Amino acid sequence: MTFRAAGITLAGLQASLRPRLDAVQGELRRIIRSDFGLIAEVNGHLLQMQGKMFRPTLLLLSQEASGPGDERAETHAAVVELIHLATLVHDDSVDHSVLRRGMPTINALFSHQVSVIMGDYLYSRAVVELTRLGEIEPLRVLSRVTNEMTVGEMRQLMAHEPLSYSEADYDLLIRSKTASLLSGACEVGALRAPPREREVLRRFGDLLGMAFQIVDDLLDYTEEEAVTGKPSGNDLREHKVTLPLIHALKHFGPEARREVRTLMATPEPSDEQIGQVVARVAEAGGLDYARERAHRLAARAEQELEALPASPARETLRDSLSYVLDRKR
Ligand code: IPE
Ligand code: IPE
Ligand code: MG
Ligand code: MG
Repeated sequence: MTFRAAGITLAGLQASLRPRLDAVQGELRRIIRSDFGLIAEVNGHLLQMQGKMFRPTLLLLSQEASGPGDERAETHAAVVELIHLATLVHDDSVDHSVLRRGMPTINALFSHQVSVIMGDYLYSRAVVELTRLGEIEPLRVLSRVTNEMTVGEMRQLMAHEPLSYSEADYDLLIRSKTASLLSGACEVGALRAPPREREVLRRFGDLLGMAFQIVDDLLDYTEEEAVTGKPSGNDLREHKVTLPLIHALKHFGPEARREVRTLMATPEPSDEQIGQVVARVAEAGGLDYARERAHRLAARAEQELEALPASPARETLRDSLSYVLDRKR
């Protein structure tokens, strides 16, 4: 069974949450504020880069779908977005990426040193805020997840041997580097819910999060940077092996394999070289396979939702699956 997507936009998904998401943005601004010149300057740049706020959206929807919830949910959501932001600052430095959300990255605009320190600054502000709130449960979930993400990023660094990298390796990688935080956002939204519902939302976020990363990896192959706000083809440029290539390799002949080996051995592959491998991957069905896989994960996530009481928020969580599959940025 595959999940049927239905043209849901981010604006549509967030419409009922607008005032709450504005409050989250305000909390984020408050939490990262600093008087120190360079930190304030980088903060100013980061606050100008508008992200989708997808993790806060999931947290607030999970909360609404699972009962009255915690009155500090907006602050929890800001902390989750802050952890995400810290990861992006580090990730762009690790990935040598120059564009994020259509704007220059911190490593491009300042330096790799500034990225390392700022990522740590943002992470540690998140921890300070969680301890200020004085509740152990959000701290427990989010510290575990943050640690898991670092292991995921380390797995990523090792994922450059296309011929020996399996789909199971890839699953472990995307689960830890990406699904963990999306799942953590859902779980934190449901901390006041009965344990069974909390567990359902945690699993929902895990499946949705894996689909989210598969789609991200597809967009790296298929979309222009003007659409995604990130450099296109950057995964192959950085010698990263993702699902489309893992699958396509099973069907490649000697010529296509040779092209992949050459690309992986070229320190700075040309756009033409990347385009050639992208075309090979598409021809061998790698993109279709990855898309189907994302749909199957979304279908499983949708099934999880059936264990929750019916509510408008539950329906919006269902819509968020369509959004994940359809999104272009
Ligand atoms: C980017 O996340 C990193 C991934 C896990 C793929 P988003 O696509 O949610 O990025 P923003 O926050 O909207 O920029
Ligand atoms: C997701 O992987 C990174 C994080 C979980 C931080 P990517 O490296 O694919 O993310 P993008 O494409 O840079 O957003
Ligand atoms: Mg990256
Ligand atoms: Mg990516």
